Amino acid sequence: MSEKRLLASSDIYDVYERDGFAVREYNDASYKEKCLYAALTHARVETTLVNSFIKTPTLREVSVVDGRWSITMDFIKGKTMQQLMDENPGNMDKYLNQFIDIQTEIHAQYMPLLSKLKDKMTRQIKSLGQIDEIKKYELLTRLDSMPKHIKLCHGNFAPKNIIINDEGTYVINWGSARQGNASADVARTYLLLCLNNPEIAEPYLDKYCIKSGTSKQYVQAWLPIVAAAQLIKGKPEEKDLLMRWIDVVDYS
Ligand SMILES: Nc1ncnc2c1ncn2[C@@H]1O[C@H](COP(=O)(O)OP(=O)(O)O)[C@@H](O)[C@H]1O
Ligand SMILES: [Mg+2]
Repeated sequence: MSEKRLLASSDIYDVYERDGFAVREYNDASYKEKCLYAALTHARVETTLVNSFIKTPTLREVSVVDGRWSITMDFIKGKTMQQLMDENPGNMDKYLNQFIDIQTEIHAQYMPLLSKLKDKMTRQIKSLGQIDEIKKYELLTRLDSMPKHIKLCHGNFAPKNIIINDEGTYVINWGSARQGNASADVARTYLLLCLNNPEIAEPYLDKYCIKSGTSKQYVQAWLPIVAAAQLIKGKPEEKDLLMRWIDVVDYS
């Protein structure tokens, strides 16, 4: 067995490469449930994507060593769309089109066994300590009034979760995938871009709305909800933007 090569780290897991596999290793025994749920979700998405041009790394193993749970999948060689965007800013328009086409293809899939995005958002908003009960009620009422759809939503769709190589387009990091309203997923992507790639956030939303024939207000109606859901992560550098979005009632 060769050496581990660390690819990424977060509060709850590390991702490393070893012997042609990508391994997500949770750093505490208490993450058993998260690990198993992420693995099941990934497996369900794998099943869903069999007939799509979008590929996902095959999940190979769930294991536990010294109390640390991990998920092993094929390591996909190639560059992430984030890397491609950073290296070739002149091609941004082409990448944005591709990015939106991939997301639209995901939304065209159907996986009835996945749990509902709306239930997750409801739980997240209810558990928020940072906003008062009146605000929570307002957000939950808004969420409840949104059209209920059952489209496959990635939940973290961003350029760093796409890997492109000669074999095709791979989408990774499916742990947050749910079935729900595509506009909620688009609002979530817009939020992630505002936080991490602000220069492409507006062009993304404009282009998505034109390509899909969706009204911008319809996506914007989700912004207070996705902002509240993101507040759960408790990242101090995000707080100002999220609180501002939560308070905006009408974007028109
Ligand atoms: N199967 C894989 N093949 C190749 N690289 C991967 C794979 N899984 C993850 N990575 C790399 O590790 C990074 C982090 O993994 P990811 O599952 O996206 O977790 P997170 O974004 O939550 O940290 C990715 O952005 C990618 O660069
Ligand atoms: Mg990722």
